[in-house]
Amino acid sequence: MQTTFIIRRFKPADLKQVMKINRTCLPENYSSGFFMSIFQRFPESFVVAEATGATVGYAMCRVENRFGFGLFGGAKKGHLISIAVLPDSRRCGIASELMKGVMTALVDYGCGDLFLEVRVSNVGAVQLYKKLGFLVDRRIRHYYADGEAAYVMRRKLPLES
Ligand SMILES: CC(C)(COP(=O)(O)OP(=O)(O)OC[C@H]1O[C@@H](n2cnc3c(N)ncnc32)[C@H](O)[C@@H]1OP(=O)(O)O)[C@@H](O)C(=O)NCCC(=O)NCCS
Repeated sequence: MQTTFIIRRFKPADLKQVMKINRTCLPENYSSGFFMSIFQRFPESFVVAEATGATVGYAMCRVENRFGFGLFGGAKKGHLISIAVLPDSRRCGIASELMKGVMTALVDYGCGDLFLEVRVSNVGAVQLYKKLGFLVDRRIRHYYADGEAAYVMRRKLPLES
């Protein structure tokens, strides 16, 4: 399927629609204050997709300062907090472009890699991340509130590496 869309930075006027997308697509929901605090701290890595004038998807990340060793060692890491695309707009490449948008922003924030958690049953999302070069780093049992396990997936930044 083909659709025309643009990826741009989140702005406060998007909040209501982004919260609606989050509640429509995911069981992990957040308060308006949480979304706004992420925007205030990391505005460049909070992006939305707009298709025919409507916001249909978003991705937001934070930057975490951690010390690490080995392949993914280094101080600054991007952490994907949430990504979702409305059901009618899926399989058009929107999530892929949202992810590329956050990865570019995270490089500008000085991050050397990006990690995320994903439900082990979320075959579509795991496939999306693999296609973007993420590898499964480990599995965390009972990560989600309903007891499901998560894969932690990572990839190095920048995108070209
Ligand atoms: C996961 C999600 C963000 C993908 O959004 P999307 O815009 O449809 O993704 P894209 O179109 O960029 O997909 C890129 C590739 O990912 C893979 N993919 C995406 N959705 C898939 C699915 N349901 N099944 C299998 N592969 C899938 C495919 O390889 C796809 O390429 P293709 O369409 O050429 O085959 C979307 O399905 C969604 O919002 N799901 C609910 C929320 C969610 O699970 N978020 C992730 C939480 S960790």
